Amino acid sequence: PSAATVTRPLLDWYDRHARDLPWRVSPADRRRGVLPDPYRVWLSEVMLQQTTVAAVKSYFAAFLARWPSVEALAAAPSEAVMGAWAGLGYYARARNLHACAKAVAAEHGGVFPNSAAGLKRLPGIGDYTSAAIAAIAFDEPVAVVDGNIERVVSRLFAIETPLPQSRPLIRHHVDALTPADRPGDFAQAMMDLGATICTPRRPACIVCPAQPVCTGRRAGIAERLPAKLPK
Ligand code: ADE
Repeated sequence: PSAATVTRPLLDWYDRHARDLPWRVSPADRRRGVLPDPYRVWLSEVMLQQTTVAAVKSYFAAFLARWPSVEALAAAPSEAVMGAWAGLGYYARARNLHACAKAVAAEHGGVFPNSAAGLKRLPGIGDYTSAAIAAIAFDEPVAVVDGNIERVVSRLFAIETPLPQSRPLIRHHVDALTPADRPGDFAQAMMDLGATICTPRRPACIVCPAQPVCTGRRAGIAERLPAKLPK
């Protein structure tokens, strides 16, 4: 399927069914083209790196209440940041989070770099996170690829090559699908689709906005994609 047949239906679906998450702007603001605060996007994406949406919500709220800006977070004692992180796991993320806040405060005047390339130079921000923040907070049309999106694309294009060998092809397709307009909404539409409809087991193809153009569905193989390497 081409961008013309996938991207528009997915954005329309997102307008109606986007999950209401604390780091997103309201549907009314989204319609007016309002972008979310980069600090909130960064904080949520770092927390979501290895933790579920459900677990992240309360930590995200607590961090924002205590440190409403990246400069406030940068000024916090590291024991306070580590303590507030307790329970989220993968504590290297918390150390990098604090180091990143300090770098943004000290080297960028408290303003996040507005491109994926600039963001990637900061501590704890890799390929995925830099692309996600650039697309969602700055409207940069970069391809965002996480595990959910890999599954969705593997099915849409009936990619039978197993991961990780299929990664370059998946990225190529995400590149082609990502719109110049609303790249962040498109990325989050793909994530929401993967989390709520195009689930690992028993995908709800019957209510999927991409079902008419999904090659995996048409071939009857969607549920077993992405393929697993034989053990
Ligand atoms: N997982 C990681 N980032 C996300 C986002 N922005 N929306 C939904 N799920 C996500």
